[in-house]
Amino acid sequence: MCGIVGYIGVRPAYEILVKGLHRLEYRGYDSAGVALLTDDAKLNVYKTRGKVDDLERFCQSKDIAGSIGIAHTRWATHGEPNDINAHPHFSRSGKIALVHNGTIENYGVLKEALEMNGCTFQSETDTEVLVQLIEYVKETNGCTLVEAVREALKEVVGAYAIAVIDTDEPDTVIGARKSSPLVIGVGEGETFLASDATPIIEYTNKVVYLNDDEIAIIRRGEPLQIITADNRPGQIDIKTLRMSVSQLEKGGYPHFMLKEINEQPSTIHDCIRGRIASRGPEVTLSGVIENKDKFLNAHRIIIVACGTSWHAGLIGKRLIQEIARIPVTVEYASEFRYSNPILDEHDIVIAISQSGETADTLAAIQMARRCGAFVYGVCNVVGSSIARATDSGTYIHVGPEIGVASTKAFTGQVTVLTMLAVAIGSLKGTIDPATQTAVTDALRNLPALIRQTLKLNDKIEKLSSTYTYVHNFLYLGRGYNFPSALEGALKLKEISYIHAEGYPAAEMKHGPIALIDRELPTVVIAPNDEMHEKIISNIQQVKARGGSVIAIVTKGDTSIAEIADHILEIPEVPEVISPIIVSIPLQLLAYHVAIKKGCNVDMPRNLAKSVTVE
Ligand code: G6P
Repeated sequence: MCGIVGYIGVRPAYEILVKGLHRLEYRGYDSAGVALLTDDAKLNVYKTRGKVDDLERFCQSKDIAGSIGIAHTRWATHGEPNDINAHPHFSRSGKIALVHNGTIENYGVLKEALEMNGCTFQSETDTEVLVQLIEYVKETNGCTLVEAVREALKEVVGAYAIAVIDTDEPDTVIGARKSSPLVIGVGEGETFLASDATPIIEYTNKVVYLNDDEIAIIRRGEPLQIITADNRPGQIDIKTLRMSVSQLEKGGYPHFMLKEINEQPSTIHDCIRGRIASRGPEVTLSGVIENKDKFLNAHRIIIVACGTSWHAGLIGKRLIQEIARIPVTVEYASEFRYSNPILDEHDIVIAISQSGETADTLAAIQMARRCGAFVYGVCNVVGSSIARATDSGTYIHVGPEIGVASTKAFTGQVTVLTMLAVAIGSLKGTIDPATQTAVTDALRNLPALIRQTLKLNDKIEKLSSTYTYVHNFLYLGRGYNFPSALEGALKLKEISYIHAEGYPAAEMKHGPIALIDRELPTVVIAPNDEMHEKIISNIQQVKARGGSVIAIVTKGDTSIAEIADHILEIPEVPEVISPIIVSIPLQLLAYHVAIKKGCNVDMPRNLAKSVTVE
């Protein structure tokens, strides 16, 4: 969480930094701030509670000169979101300013030690401890800024990506990382630094991903230099990004979330491109081909993920077990990492993460690798920490997802997991040719089927007005679509703040049925599949108790149309791809209810898209 940006070059820094912060706002929006060094080495720090727009208003009459600066958008961990706790934080002398993404776990001990040496603190943050420590080391050792940063970081336990500037060295920005991402953009006579590449892409597509325990020394007019924590030269591996600025804009939609929902025909097309040919049943995933023996000999697959990615994992479990006949368990990464799991070299751990930066998932991967398991990543962000920490993997290639509530990444993840199940099943001979043809045909048709399903938008928009007063929602589904119920409920609660619970439909009678009354709408996911008859009885049970039902059904389903209050018809699709199709009306329902309630769907309260803290 938290986003950081830095710039040193020839242009006015403020504009670049603020634009960069807007791009990183998905990482947190509790407060925002900027520190600028003027040409005569004066440090101006402006920060405020609220969003980047608030910062811009705050800076309207301020001196924003300077071609070097750092900036921050915050997701609060230590200390409430107010002006004082906002970053950048500065040292006692006011000479050094620092922005930080991560958590300094031993900040209490460090703070005490610094206080004993005369330091005083203004904020409640862990970050201020770091900047005071850097200044303390610099003054005590009489060293340069980079030396002080390197020495100070030796004392720190925790996660960080930082950017630091100092009036004593007005042509230098120092960056460093451990467990939080930091990307450096290498331009012509200018250098950028950011939590991800989105603030950089407009200016250069040449980037360097800093590794853990590396420090970047960025001096005006000099080539980028990287050193390691133990002061050895680091490698500068420049990568070329394939990302366009238009992918980072709303493109005429009122919200990123709506844009991303509507993008799904093309994102799924990008996801399957080159992996499923225009005809024929083959699925080509290089990660599987290159690690054939691992998949052939796997005793077990353990999927680790968080949030929406965990829901995709639940669908993946069914797909892999059914098609590839390998036992699969799905674990919350945050629980798994502390569960002392039994793993060995015959296990495959699949880590699913849109951002590729989720701290718990990353920690689970590191633990799995230490135990000798083979780790396979399913990520969206190319070059992200998880993509780099895994042994192999498959990118979902759905482009940048900016709306905090995940939509196109979820369908991309399920699509990749479907291809993965078929690729492994085909390798092992556990999928019969007719099924393989049916599944690959269905995957090829996905973009067209999603396009058709998106036509439900207007109906859902009208329907959504009925539910803005509601306090609770129940979502029911079975089989492949039990995880869809969980995901539908999560979408609604994330952005509309309506409490929602997802349940396996048949479990309703063991508890949630007690909640049903006129005030509790139930969304029932009931496409034509082998559970259809049984789910009709669940709908009857809800109706018998006065509850209202919105049913997602296969086009032409008259039996449910007669009993449900509202039906949303999806095209007839094979069961294995139905979670992808049903997610479309579920996303649209959450979106429209939230909009009708006046909620900020792209930046829901308290949430962040990239969760780089435990
Ligand atoms: C946050 C986001 C969710 C996401 C989850 C896991 O909670 O708001 O949308 O599903 O993190 O993130 P990941 O990037 O690992 O998929």
